Amino acid sequence: MGGGENMSLAVETEKLVKVYGNGKTMVKALDGIDMKVPKASVFGLFGPNGSGKTTLISILVGLLLPTSGSAKVLGFDVTRESVEIRRRVGLLPEGFGFYDHMTALENLVFLATLDGVPSSQREKRALEALEAVGLKDRADAKVSTFSRGMKQRLGVAQSLLKDPELLIFDEPTVGIDPEGAAEFRNLVRKMNRDGKTILLSTHLLYEVGMICTHAAIIREGRLLVQGSVDELYRSVREAKGFRYEIRVKPGSDMPLQEIRSIPSVIEIAQSDNRVTVLSKNDIGSILFSLVTKNPYKDIVESLTPVEPSWEEIYRFYQEGG
Ligand SMILES: Nc1ncnc2c1ncn2[C@@H]1O[C@H](COP(=O)(O)OP(=O)(O)OP(=O)(O)O)[C@@H](O)[C@H]1O
Ligand SMILES: [Mg+2]
Repeated sequence: MGGGENMSLAVETEKLVKVYGNGKTMVKALDGIDMKVPKASVFGLFGPNGSGKTTLISILVGLLLPTSGSAKVLGFDVTRESVEIRRRVGLLPEGFGFYDHMTALENLVFLATLDGVPSSQREKRALEALEAVGLKDRADAKVSTFSRGMKQRLGVAQSLLKDPELLIFDEPTVGIDPEGAAEFRNLVRKMNRDGKTILLSTHLLYEVGMICTHAAIIREGRLLVQGSVDELYRSVREAKGFRYEIRVKPGSDMPLQEIRSIPSVIEIAQSDNRVTVLSKNDIGSILFSLVTKNPYKDIVESLTPVEPSWEEIYRFYQEGG
């Protein structure tokens, strides 16, 4: 490993460019990506179809060479040290397939062989991986009898065989029903608690909000923004306003004069037992001290900040942040 790199990052790319094709048809799939994935994060790479997610992931695991720029994964260079990277990174590629006529366990033992797991450990590792994804009782069933959601969990199991430090999942919940997707998210949370860094791509914004600690938005080969999910929320709030919801007890009347007189308040809306307040600045603590005193404290049931929706966040950064 060279000196100077940031050891708290699992992935760091610099001015990464990928151009496909030669001569007539050229596609610039990546156009100068600087991405930083902190260790121990669940990092969501969000982007619409064709934005460059799979291209970026393929470069990170050494399946594709960049046209220019550089990238380090766990401190190793993707062009010169991809062997080291593949030893330490578990990948669930887009549309990963198994041998249908083989059992789940046979598939995993075979893949563990390709992964370079020593023969004495292959079956043990395969069973542990099946256990981790909740498929141990199906170890000896043929993959042809698996539902799509089960195949997807088997895909995750496959990525765990090397006990990798970093897991990369390319659109892991595509084609999975809501229950399967929820199970997958639980699995990601558990693996993250076990200390693993997880980089996953998705074209579903809400998925980012549900499991990710950090996110980047990619569009036409460029990152529009990246950071912790809280940072992303905060920038949108600072530009579009801070929103709060106050719930009041049914049947009680909430006096609004005092809130209205807070200088940064832009808008107050009241419906039934709910008051929403929009403010130019963060007035969370002002509202809190207000609703905990008389006469409000007997009327107010809750005060909560309302996060911007992911649609709002995407629109905001798409328009240039
Ligand atoms: N092998 C290839 N040859 C030529 N162009 C390619 C190749 N692979 C991808 N591209 C182009 O590069 C761009 C980025 O594609 P990529 O597959 O990385 O996007 P993606 O974000 O993964 O999309 P999706 O959400 O559909 O999986 C697209 O314009 C695509 O057409
Ligand atoms: Mg893709």
